[in-house]
Amino acid sequence: MKVLITGATGLVGQAIVAQCKKHNVKVHYLTTSKDKLELEDDYKGFYWNPKLNEIDINSFEGVDVIINLAGVSISNRWTTNYKKKIIDSRIQSLRLLKTTIEKGQIKIDRLISASAVGIYPDSLTNYYEEGSQVYSSNFLGEVVEKWETEANTFLKLGIQVTKIRIGLVLEKNEGALPKLVQPIKLGFGAALGNGEQWQSWIHKEDLARIFLFVLENKLDGVFNAVAPNPVINQELTKAIAKTINRPLILPNIPKSFLKLLLGEMHQLLLESQRVGSNKIEAEGFEFNYPNLLPALENLLDS
Ligand SMILES: NC(=O)c1ccc[n+]([C@@H]2O[C@H](COP(=O)([O-])OP(=O)(O)OC[C@H]3O[C@@H](n4cnc5c(N)ncnc54)[C@H](OP(=O)(O)O)[C@@H]3O)[C@@H](O)[C@H]2O)c1
Repeated sequence: MKVLITGATGLVGQAIVAQCKKHNVKVHYLTTSKDKLELEDDYKGFYWNPKLNEIDINSFEGVDVIINLAGVSISNRWTTNYKKKIIDSRIQSLRLLKTTIEKGQIKIDRLISASAVGIYPDSLTNYYEEGSQVYSSNFLGEVVEKWETEANTFLKLGIQVTKIRIGLVLEKNEGALPKLVQPIKLGFGAALGNGEQWQSWIHKEDLARIFLFVLENKLDGVFNAVAPNPVINQELTKAIAKTINRPLILPNIPKSFLKLLLGEMHQLLLESQRVGSNKIEAEGFEFNYPNLLPALENLLDS
């Protein structure tokens, strides 16, 4: 089995590459950075530039499945220009893959495309499973809906499509966790807003295992990739403080301050989505880290 991964060099990509090695799945990957190209037998890099429609067609050689993760980070200030980049980078990547497959009449069995729980509307009380038909009307909701719609167009080429709605990925050195840990370490950590927003988190290793699970079990459609036990922000903050053995002494950081500091991007910290993992568990997937404290201990205790 060989996969072609876009965005393989990022946080999620690296965790998936590690799982591919474990499962003897060979990896080709497309990168926009020539200095990230490697040429190992089981991890071979190819250059692409979706913005300029440039792609190395050799990257498809012997590939059965595409894992698509590519896109600029969503955690830079959401100026009008940057918001366009967030959407364009994701749509252009999928379109370039699709047109290359079409033109080259390349046989691919499946596309497994990253998505996000930001597709679900902000709510303190709703519980979201994959069948939910209500979508968030804010910017993140718009991004994810467009991203999933573009992924679905691969069905017309006879390619099976799986969409993985990723929650808040916990990883020691990258992404949200180090940003949450740092202020707590320095003694000025605090819950965000009223601290009641649900955070549907997942340990990076379980997330990568879900990608391999849908690959090996040929699962179609949408799957939430979140741990079975989401927590509210107050609990997450307390659990981090407990894990790194630091007190929490400050009051919550008010929403108005976060809004002032981050602009529209404050939604990333204050939106609430309580998301369920029943569907992937019903397929037989078992989480290594279903509960937050052991996940944090695994990531932060060293
Ligand atoms: N981390 C989370 O908590 C989380 C939650 C929900 C959804 N997601 C989504 O899952 C995907 C992977 O997340 P991640 O945390 O691994 O992101 P990441 O660390 O930012 O990695 C994304 C990768 O995309 C590639 N990329 C960047 N700009 C690009 C562009 N203009 N065109 C094509 N490729 C580009 C880069 O790889 P190269 O430099 O090699 O090209 C980068 O390493 C992202 O699309 C993200 O939105 C992540």
